[in-house]
Amino acid sequence: MYICNCNGLNQRAIARAIAAGCDSPAAIYRHHGCSPQCGKCAGELCALLRAGARPGAAALPACPALLPPPGLLAAE
Ligand code: FES
Repeated sequence: MYICNCNGLNQRAIARAIAAGCDSPAAIYRHHGCSPQCGKCAGELCALLRAGARPGAAALPACPALLPPPGLLAAE
């Protein structure tokens, strides 16, 4: 199942990134060599990060709201 349609990241790809140590949506994008586009997947990425957190690991910081991609809100 695709979680991030913009970047073609499915649940398995995201699980691999988390297993490799990614601890934020931004880290997951970087791991796969991509960047957020629309940001709609951020909530699901945060949920998967929380679910994948190892017992005893430092608590995940609050998932930051993703800002719109650079230039999206730029004055025209
Ligand atoms: S669905 Fe992930 S950035 Fe758009």
